[in-house]
Parts: sequence; C-alpha cells; structure tokens
Amino acid sequence: ASTPDIQPNRVEIIRNTNPATPPPSHTLVFGHTFTDHMLTIPWNAVSGWGTPEIKPYGPFQMEPSATVLHYAQTIFEGMKAYRDEHGKITLFRPDMNMKRMNNSARRIALPTFNGNALLDLIKQLIRIDQHWVPKEPGYSLYVRPTMIGTQKVIGVGPPSEALLFVILSPAGPYYASGFKPVALYGTTEFVRASPGGTGAYKLGVNYAPGVLPQKSAAALGYSQNLWLHGEDHQLTEVGTMNMFVVFGKEDGSTELVTPPLDGMILPGVTRDSVLTLAREHVNGTKRLPNLPENLVVSERTVTMKEVKEAAAAGRLVEMFGAGTAAVISPVDRIGYMGEDVHIPTGEDGMGPVSRPIWTELVGRQWGSIPSEWSVPI
Ligand code: COI
Repeated sequence: ASTPDIQPNRVEIIRNTNPATPPPSHTLVFGHTFTDHMLTIPWNAVSGWGTPEIKPYGPFQMEPSATVLHYAQTIFEGMKAYRDEHGKITLFRPDMNMKRMNNSARRIALPTFNGNALLDLIKQLIRIDQHWVPKEPGYSLYVRPTMIGTQKVIGVGPPSEALLFVILSPAGPYYASGFKPVALYGTTEFVRASPGGTGAYKLGVNYAPGVLPQKSAAALGYSQNLWLHGEDHQLTEVGTMNMFVVFGKEDGSTELVTPPLDGMILPGVTRDSVLTLAREHVNGTKRLPNLPENLVVSERTVTMKEVKEAAAAGRLVEMFGAGTAAVISPVDRIGYMGEDVHIPTGEDGMGPVSRPIWTELVGRQWGSIPSEWSVPI
C-alpha cells in the first residue's frame, strides 16, 4: 500500500503577524530578500506526506545528525513568477520544474510527490505573498522549492524523514544595466559533472564544488567557468547555466548548438525554451522577426578545437549561457590554455540569434506574448 501523497486541501495557514514591507525593486540583489511566508511539507516513510503548512518565513529546528547536514541530501528548483501590466501573476513553465524535482528526488533516494499537488500549494503561497511580486519589467519573484533529508542518523542510506519547503525571493534583472557580456575561463583542472554522475539532476551537491573554481577563475579576471569534458575538451555548461554556441557555416546557414542531454547536462527550462523557440522558427510554427532564415538547430557535442577554429575563421557568431536566474547571458571571451578566444557581441551585448529569441522568451515570461508556457497562479 502506498502512503499519502501531498494533499493541498489539508493546508494549514498561519499568517505572519509581523509582515515586512517589500523594499523598492531597484534595491533588490538576487537571492537576498525573502517574503513573509514559506511553505513546508514534512514526509516520513511510515505515514507519507504530512500536513502542508504556509507559515511565517523563519528558521527551522533540525537535528545535528540530520542526513542533509552530512551527506548533502538536498535538491532544489528555481522558477519565476511574473506580474504582467494588468497585474496578473503567472508562473513560467512550472510543470517542467515539478517533473525535474521528482527526477532529482528519485536520483538521491528522497521521496517523490504529485507535482500538481505541490504546484497547487506553491500557487496558494504566492497568492498570500502576491504583493511581493515586483511589477517592473525584468523583475520577478524567484520561487525556490527545496527538499532535504531530515532523519537523525549517521549511517548512509535513504532517509526515513524528509522536509519539502518553498521560499520566495523578489528579484531584479540579473544584469542591472543591459546585457553585460561575461568572460569565461575554460577550466582544464576541475570538472562539473562526469559520465554516470549527477550533473543531469538539480542536486545541491552539484553546486558547492563549483565555488572554488569560480573564485580561481575570478582571480584570473574571468567571471565564470566554462566547464569542459574529456580529452577533446567538450563544452558542457557555463557557471550554473546551460550554454549555446552559434556558428556561421560555409554553406551560408547559421547553426545554433547546445550540448545534448547525455547525463552530464542539466535539463534547463530556459535551455528547452530556447531550443523550442528556435525549432518553431525553423519549422514555421512561429517565425521570429530578425532571426536568421536559414537557421539549423543542433543538440550535439562541441569541442574547444571547433570553437577556436571557428573564431580564427571568423565563423563564430556568438555564445551565451541560458538559465532561469539570468535568462540569457552573452559571452565575449574564453580564456583557454593560456590564450584568449574572442567572441563577437552586439552593441547591446546580444547577438543575431540570442536577441530575437530573448525578445520572444521574455515576452512569453512577462505575459506580453500570450502562450501556454505562462500559467496563472
Ligand atoms: C540558474 O537559474 O541559472 C540557476 O542555476 C540558479 C542558480 C541561482 C543556482
């Protein structure tokens, strides 16, 4: 017999009697400010998912032996809620995050759950804190669902107790003034993921080991790592984002390339959205103004050799990172094996492929372009 799943109709709501005033949007720094309420749902192996609570944002009590504190039994998601010009609040493709969170849970033996039920509760939480969703274009409410193993045990195993919680953070555009292209350090000494590893899941354990390499890259004058894989230095991801490269081909076509989901690549929602928009343009479902006519969309391996050769031949059109937090992040330089590979960027930082795709993407996120990706709360 299976234990109870998450039950949104059993939610208990405890109002914050000391609510804060949301700060002016322009003062927001990504991930530093939290709203008045949070959602918690406990789980244990005997009785399944317990009573969901929406209650004041605040500290947890936890056993020092809780498995999350020792073996990093923690997974998370990131998605955004937007307020359109009429005040309507929507989430962007939240079903993708619910699916991915369940995949992450399965990978590290945390409990799975009904994604629609969690989404229902997240919507209730956002409605309660709806005045925290910024109204300025480019601003949003970042939603952070997290699950941790809370069993008090030093042994390594699947935890018999867990806690799922969701916190909300109002956020500004990642870049304060336009798109500032970033320089990447093509790291040959550290890896983000490896075959058979956990790179394709959103586990906390994938992120902390990237901090020291990021500091080393920063000391050399680069802002993030370009994570490479294998003897032939295949490009995989940049910092905490997926990545795209655009090549001008000899036959006159323009190729948009991102590495395939081979187990080392995080299946990003922005990655999928960029690919889908580009493919809809190619197959004529929805042509995007100013996007090259003869676009080719590829999920394939790209090596540093190919990037260097294309740059030398003047056929490297652009490169960008794609993620929920920054959306699109142009790259203008890669430090690699002691030299710099330069990448073209447009006047606004973006390139001929990223600009039209970004325009459509943020239109759909902000609600100025209606789409099924935009889900009302
Ligand atoms: C992203 O949206 O690019 C992320 O990976 C979230 C980041 C804050 C860890």
